[in-house]
Amino acid sequence: MLHNKTAVITGGSRGIGRAIAYKFASLGADIAVIYAGNQDAAEAVCQKCRQEYGVKARSYCCDVSDFEKAKETTAQVKADFGSIHILVNNAGITKDGLILRMKEADFDRVLAVNLKGAFHMIRHCSGVFLRAKEGCIINIASVTGLMGNAGQCNYAASKAGLIGLTKTAARELAPKGIRCNAIAPGFIATDMTQSQSENPMLKMIPLGRMGEPEDVAQAAAYLAEARYVTGEVLRVDGGIAM
Ligand code: NAI
Repeated sequence: MLHNKTAVITGGSRGIGRAIAYKFASLGADIAVIYAGNQDAAEAVCQKCRQEYGVKARSYCCDVSDFEKAKETTAQVKADFGSIHILVNNAGITKDGLILRMKEADFDRVLAVNLKGAFHMIRHCSGVFLRAKEGCIINIASVTGLMGNAGQCNYAASKAGLIGLTKTAARELAPKGIRCNAIAPGFIATDMTQSQSENPMLKMIPLGRMGEPEDVAQAAAYLAEARYVTGEVLRVDGGIAM
């Protein structure tokens, strides 16, 4: 159970982040939803957390790729909730293209959100975790970061980088009682994968279906409570990357 814990979830207004927000709220955690643009969607998630699960929930508009804004937002969450115990770096984007045609700006933007954004949040939340003498970081990576994927050099690099960041944070912060793990989802049915329904890779999933956001949320709940697990990369992929 996650009673008396505050969880910050980036990109918590839809898809996998929203499912994690509901799962954590159902376990008793207070929820800070960080969103990029859709205030109504973020507020709707918070409202459900409050009404259905009886926890405290607030939304914060923040582009995680902005170091200063991420710092300000973390400080605001701490002021509003008193502390932060769990950080889920879930915010992520794709800007796909083959290497020969990839625009520099598209490469940079995906790295800025998916990798630097996670660094910014870890950097700013770590001080809060140190004062609380506990902390749990969960980074949402991807099987693409393990296997590569044609047409996604920027995304794969960002997710492989996120796995390196996860293991380094796990090593650095373990002596302070702070754990850091990653989840590597496969194909999960969300807005991000809407255009993938005809992807031939789907036929290669041993469990024979796309995942649901709730499948990832279940793994996140496990990692939030697994007090002897750190530096792990947990695949939630129906077996595709085994
Ligand atoms: P989604 O596109 O439905 O949601 C992404 C969320 O991130 C949105 O709430 C969006 O507002 C937020 N976001 C985007 N840029 C942001 C920024 N600069 N600052 C703050 N928030 C920002 O995507 P989905 O599918 O829910 O993905 C969530 C995470 O899971 C991503 O990191 C994605 O890379 C990862 N993932 C998804 C898979 C899938 O099959 N859907 C597979 C593997 C990993």
